[in-house]
Amino acid sequence: MTDRDRRAEELSVLAAEAAACVACDLAASRTHVVFGAGDPDAEVMIVGEGPGRREDETGLPFVGPSGRLLDRLLGEIGLERSDVYIGNVVKCRPPGNRDPRPVEIDACKGYLRTQIQLVDPAVVVTLGNFSSKLLLATTTGITRLRGRAYDWWGGRKLVPTYHPAAALRGSARVLAEMQEDLSLVRSILDGNLRSGPDLEPPGGPGSAPEEPPAIEQLDLFS
Ligand code: URA
Repeated sequence: MTDRDRRAEELSVLAAEAAACVACDLAASRTHVVFGAGDPDAEVMIVGEGPGRREDETGLPFVGPSGRLLDRLLGEIGLERSDVYIGNVVKCRPPGNRDPRPVEIDACKGYLRTQIQLVDPAVVVTLGNFSSKLLLATTTGITRLRGRAYDWWGGRKLVPTYHPAAALRGSARVLAEMQEDLSLVRSILDGNLRSGPDLEPPGGPGSAPEEPPAIEQLDLFS
């Protein structure tokens, strides 16, 4: 069995476990558990917030309009959806797309942690305020967080960016900044970015806050 096959098999065992999960109240209102999908051996893992309506209907992550934009942005850095692994902080849709509650995140965190350990990506990309703040254990918002790569859990890089839904709401600036953030991911994959907590933002010096926001190790991942 190849290493890739082993990761795939362990992910499908975990997905089957998640499919039967009733650890929080979201189980009562979900149609499908949206465990995650993609290359079990991906170099890049994308982490969204939680399934929306289309994802709940289909059981697959990012299949609605946000997913189509995500595909386009990945394409611009030479990646297909099948090259990455996509998951969410919570695997069941919060009713009305509200933010997941602490008790729901707590109930679900083991799935995300194990997914990251199994896929073992070099780069984790968090989409939006919610997953970025959570995985970076900070109260700093995405507008200040984005534009740089952070040294993260297990020697990985974490690149926070906006949620595609924010770009779809119509801001050309948000879209351009998402493109900058994804070009950072390309640079990391190409080995063109030195490591360290104070990586230069893609727009050059001065385009990001002078002081990096305070980042602690998230207890989900310690
Ligand atoms: N938004 C998310 O955060 N995740 C999805 O899977 C779909 C939309």
